[in-house]
Amino acid sequence: MSITLDFSGKNVLVVGGTSGINRGVAELFAKHGARVAVASRSQDKVDDTVAALKALGSDAMGFAADVRQPDAIKAGVAQVHAAFGDFDVVVSGAAGNFPATAMGMSTNAFKAVIDIDLLGTFHVMQAVFPHLRKPGASVINISAPQAFIPMEAQSHVCAAKAGVDMITRTLSLEWGPSGVRINSIVPGPIDKTEGMARLAPTDEMRAACVESVPLKRMGSTEDIGNACLFLASELGSYVSGVVLPVDGGWAQNGAGSMSASLAAFARMSEK
Ligand code: NAP
Ligand code: COA
Repeated sequence: MSITLDFSGKNVLVVGGTSGINRGVAELFAKHGARVAVASRSQDKVDDTVAALKALGSDAMGFAADVRQPDAIKAGVAQVHAAFGDFDVVVSGAAGNFPATAMGMSTNAFKAVIDIDLLGTFHVMQAVFPHLRKPGASVINISAPQAFIPMEAQSHVCAAKAGVDMITRTLSLEWGPSGVRINSIVPGPIDKTEGMARLAPTDEMRAACVESVPLKRMGSTEDIGNACLFLASELGSYVSGVVLPVDGGWAQNGAGSMSASLAAFARMSEK
């Protein structure tokens, strides 16, 4: 079977798109012909990513802003909209994570992750909606297995990402009548990312993580990008409000097996 996904003439914005999974997603859209914009806090990371996207042939741009600052996000999004026109695809994936038990973190530590992952997603959703192509736009929130699998040393992330998925599901109701689809993708453990460097920091934890995935491998940023291409394309035109694990089966029961070793690791650094 041969399927060609052509995003020529399509406008894609990836928030948190300057490293790891989200950057991989941005680059895959560029490879498939899209005009791609990225945003994150660091101007250096934005510049580096825009240069890479341009090298892939995309008419790319970007802006530096913190998703915790709604006015800055609105201004950056408006700037991209002025240059590109209406967005066909928005991927929102800015996030923060560190292993810490509930008793091992401050209110501010818990709040930092809630503010970035949950409030940040809300800010991005509010900023982009006026600029989405209606009908036709596809919005994708990048979630995590912690949204529905409790994991020790992750209470902040579990709470935040569960909220992200409920934003996705609720907005599928509010935005569906405008012809806007919105879905969450739940990546499994993705190789060579900051997330896995933080959640499986030792060789032993990494090996245990791979073993816990039914497909016996970590995923790649391209695995997540391919799912984004599907959801954003005509192939996904009747898919909305879905929370889609792209994880080699990890969410079935493997992800939970990380819980105890993560808690032990967090407690060691909390001593
Ligand atoms: P990453 O490389 O650290 O990517 C995070 C991105 O978000 C970066 O571009 C970062 O750039 C940006 N960002 C962070 N805080 C921000 C803020 N306050 N405002 C604006 N941008 C901000 O992490 P990753 O591991 O690839 O994870 C990407 C996404 O996948 C996250 O949503 C994560 O929860 C999810 N996920 C990852 C895995 C995994 O295996 N890695 C598994 C499940 C889910 P700046 O530093 O420039 O701000
Ligand atoms: N254990 C316990 N608390 C921690 C912690 C850890 N490992 N790391 C940070 N914190 C606490 C800080 O001490 C601070 O609390 P305090 O003010 O009570 O001391 C609070 O979290 C905020 O930290 P700060 O460094 O000021 O936040 P920031 O806004 O600069 O950065 C983070 C946000 C902490 C999430 C940072 O790790 C980050 O920017 N992450 C983005 C990249 C990432 O996490 N990628 C993986 C995505 S899955």
